[in-house]
Amino acid sequence: MKRLLLLLAALCCLAGCCDTSAPAMPDLIPRPSSLRPGSGCFRLPATLGFSCADSTWLPAAEFLQRSLPDGVAVESVCGEKAPFTVVRAEGLDTIGGYRLSVTRRGIRLEAGSYGGVIAGIATLRQLTGSDGTVPAVEIEDAPRFAWRGFMLDVARHFFTKEEVMALLDRMAQYKFNKFHWHLTDDQGWRIEIKRYPALTEQGAWRDPSTHNHDIRCGELAEEWRDASYLLPEKNLRRDADGRLLYGGYYTQEDIREVVAYAASLGIDVIPEVDMPGHSLRAVACYPGLSCTGRAEWGEAFSTPLCLGNDATLDFCKGVYEELFELFPYAYVHLGADEVEKRNWERCPKCQQRIAREGLADEKELQSWFVREMERFFNEHGRCLVGWDEITDGGLSPTAVVQWWRSWLPQTLDESVANGNSVVLSPVEFAYLSEQNSRSLAKVYGYEPLAGLADEAAGQVLGVHTNLWTEFVPSFERACFHIFPRFFALSEIAWCGGGAEFEPFRRRVNSHLKRFDEEGWNFRVPDLDGFCDRNEFVDSARVELRMPFEGLTVRYTTDGSVPDSASMRYEGPFTLHGECTLRLRAFTAAGNAGEVVTARYVRHPLREAEEVAGPLADGLTAVWYDYRGRSCAEIDAAPLKGRYVVEEVRIPDGVSGNIGLLFEGWLDIPEDGIYSFYTYSDDGSVVRVDGDVVVDNDGAHSRVERSGQAALSKGLHRLEIRYFDSNGGILEAGLIDSAGVRRPFAEGMLKHRRDA
Ligand code: ACM
Ligand code: ZN
Repeated sequence: MKRLLLLLAALCCLAGCCDTSAPAMPDLIPRPSSLRPGSGCFRLPATLGFSCADSTWLPAAEFLQRSLPDGVAVESVCGEKAPFTVVRAEGLDTIGGYRLSVTRRGIRLEAGSYGGVIAGIATLRQLTGSDGTVPAVEIEDAPRFAWRGFMLDVARHFFTKEEVMALLDRMAQYKFNKFHWHLTDDQGWRIEIKRYPALTEQGAWRDPSTHNHDIRCGELAEEWRDASYLLPEKNLRRDADGRLLYGGYYTQEDIREVVAYAASLGIDVIPEVDMPGHSLRAVACYPGLSCTGRAEWGEAFSTPLCLGNDATLDFCKGVYEELFELFPYAYVHLGADEVEKRNWERCPKCQQRIAREGLADEKELQSWFVREMERFFNEHGRCLVGWDEITDGGLSPTAVVQWWRSWLPQTLDESVANGNSVVLSPVEFAYLSEQNSRSLAKVYGYEPLAGLADEAAGQVLGVHTNLWTEFVPSFERACFHIFPRFFALSEIAWCGGGAEFEPFRRRVNSHLKRFDEEGWNFRVPDLDGFCDRNEFVDSARVELRMPFEGLTVRYTTDGSVPDSASMRYEGPFTLHGECTLRLRAFTAAGNAGEVVTARYVRHPLREAEEVAGPLADGLTAVWYDYRGRSCAEIDAAPLKGRYVVEEVRIPDGVSGNIGLLFEGWLDIPEDGIYSFYTYSDDGSVVRVDGDVVVDNDGAHSRVERSGQAALSKGLHRLEIRYFDSNGGILEAGLIDSAGVRRPFAEGMLKHRRDA
């Protein structure tokens, strides 16, 4: 009987369907609006007929082919009955909405636009098991934002067209639909402009032995023994004198190819040739474009273009005229960020322009340029996008503002009050260049419309994430920065932020496993289970918590960077002496995680203190007007205010130059080793009984540091210092045995009532 059932099941599968038990529903990112599991599944045949009611949607067959397991061939059978049918459905939005129905007999995809077809196929890809089965399901899905953008800086380091196309595939798989191509900057010019050949003949190449980004990348490769910091051979060449040059550029033919590829994925390409700042390479090739004829650095940024010179304006328009031919989309990005305006103050031509146009100052000169360029864009039927500096000196009401300076929320407020459409890419959440162990959770917590009134929210076109590549020389390194935060931003752009992190983290792990199998790099989730500085009384138990299945952890005790030959962590072990562990996780495919360093030191239990006088809950906090860069000198600065606080965080009303000194006692419930942490931007330091337990000092962006103290039951003196000068954050507390970070529990913090 059993044999007969097995035979029946096998026959059923051969016929194209699966057994009736409900297969596990794969982990989808972004999560769809609604999903109803069906019964059984559809088994993909060796040749999958793909029937599109609308022949203009046929290019999606290529994405479908790349989305299915090896061994399944897609055959377009336009208009005929087929196992995979795509139809246009009225009532679905035109920005990516779709309905996907998988039954044991086949797949039906309804969409309101080509973007919807691509989004549906992206979901199907994630539903499909490596065995070629797709669980039966009904999905109805639509994006929250029409604009789901990703920017790649190919100027600081160059990425080949094949690498760009591979990222475009990933964009489509995660339902991004605007590729912003940052094509030029101070460090490289990457697009062929026929009128100005020197831009690529010279401007696309540099001597890496004298270039600060390349030198630093070389140092990082050495320090971390990480080849992904090395310049790829394919982007190196020798000039006629045998000098090694680094760089690369896209011919106009390459650009057309990439744009067509993106179009087949439902992705619009938004080119950016950054002007009037970030133009050093252009100025180096054509010195007449700058005010002084020299290409140099000013106080903060590089020599900008001379806006008093009509020939410069002709250059700008000439470049964009060629771009308009290559990029057929409505939006074109002018850049216009970070302009060194000092040069214009000293330039007679720029001053003449200011006088002639009746402008108040250099800020208005920048705004005049943006408007002039916008007029030109509009004449060519294009809409200008600019970084939020286009608000300086008077914003045109029709430009799209890409808000990035999260420390200047007023630029966003001004833009929406002015009636402009905005795209959100705040540094705080959407910049992929920097990251730390908490970055994924932090990005996932981003709610783009938080704090915006309904009307203002209506002006938000969407969310846009950016990868700047100063220290990202290779594709592997780029992927390390992009993934897995790309998943979080995909979900924020598609279905909104603010969802619970833990279920998302589990879904991320299954996507990373697939990335690993596909040979793609990503930031391996961080190991946990230890502090930066660990204390023990007799011996220390080292027990790691693995964030991700299938990791191999290797470690050293001699200070060297662990590699694939280092000692392997086989399970918890005991240390009897002091040492420094350096640990690194490796995925099954050999992707290496961050190197983490854990110092283990012996320390007897610290005795509790007898404190005279009545104690009350909370700590005292003193705010100093502090502008320095280290915690030690905070209390030498002028005093601004005194507080009693229940929690260790920046008290309400404290802003600007912040130096905070929290003092009091910690009431320890029982003898033990306690793990402390701070998460701060900028620096923070925790002392217990006068000893530094957490050293998170120095000027830096958000960083977590942790440390332990061996404490006996009772009161222990606690001091926490923190400083910041530009809208920072402070969190501090204890790490429990499961690794959960929590603020100090109620009643643990004490201060003297008469303090
Ligand atoms: C930027 O990050 N400079 C837009
Ligand atoms: Zn000038």
